[in-house]
Amino acid sequence: MKKKSLIIGNWKMNLTPAEATSYLIKLQKKIGEPTSAQVVICPGFLSITAAERALKGTKIELGAQNVASQEPGALTGEIAAKQLEGLVRYVIVGHSERRIHLGERDREIATKLALCHLHHLTPILAVGETLHDYEERLAARVVNSQLTAGLRDLDAEEVEKTIIAYEPVWAIGTGKACSPRYVSQMIAGLRSVISALYGEEVAAKVKFLYGGSINSLNAEAYLDLEGCGGLLVGHESLELDEFAGIVKVAERETAEA
Ligand code: 13P
Repeated sequence: MKKKSLIIGNWKMNLTPAEATSYLIKLQKKIGEPTSAQVVICPGFLSITAAERALKGTKIELGAQNVASQEPGALTGEIAAKQLEGLVRYVIVGHSERRIHLGERDREIATKLALCHLHHLTPILAVGETLHDYEERLAARVVNSQLTAGLRDLDAEEVEKTIIAYEPVWAIGTGKACSPRYVSQMIAGLRSVISALYGEEVAAKVKFLYGGSINSLNAEAYLDLEGCGGLLVGHESLELDEFAGIVKVAERETAEA
């Protein structure tokens, strides 16, 4: 049987604590207790405690969308990994929206990944090429370099526990999900980079996700892919019925495999 698929909702800069609570209570009722898919919600920081309360006693887990690149201290407006420890299990690091709009650099991303591991959080390193990179056939070079730079401060054991999300920038929020075949090739390429750096055994254990214009109709094609362990869902994770639909597809896929 295929391993549990990880279905992660990235709410980005949406929902108040009250809206988050109401959504999660409804989601829980809709999806019940998924047994063959692991569902994770990444609310904005403001709604994390409300989400935690709403999800107590359920199997839905929590993640954060970002973390500071420093330990707790004088850094106005930031949230440290230590503050998230025990509150969330996962942290998205290096999302393209942060790289592009907030100038987040590989060096900083590498530090964030190391801090996540230090504080027992599972980082989800997001990598992906822009449309320009894609058209210029630079995609593999760009994502391989983001991957190598992001992992550089980790040891093999930490790499094994890091999740990699392949999210081509041109597929995010555009309704243009890229072809499953292309995703499969890109994930295979990324896995071979890990294999060259940390060995085949480590590479085989790393979980890869796909993200970019996922909905309940196209989810199956990606979950079917050999190397793809789940999905990182943006916009459609805010639509209760759609997100519940994606979770149901994952449940079915895993159970049938
Ligand atoms: P969309 O699903 O809205 O394309 O966003 C994907 C994403 O950025 C998830 O992190």
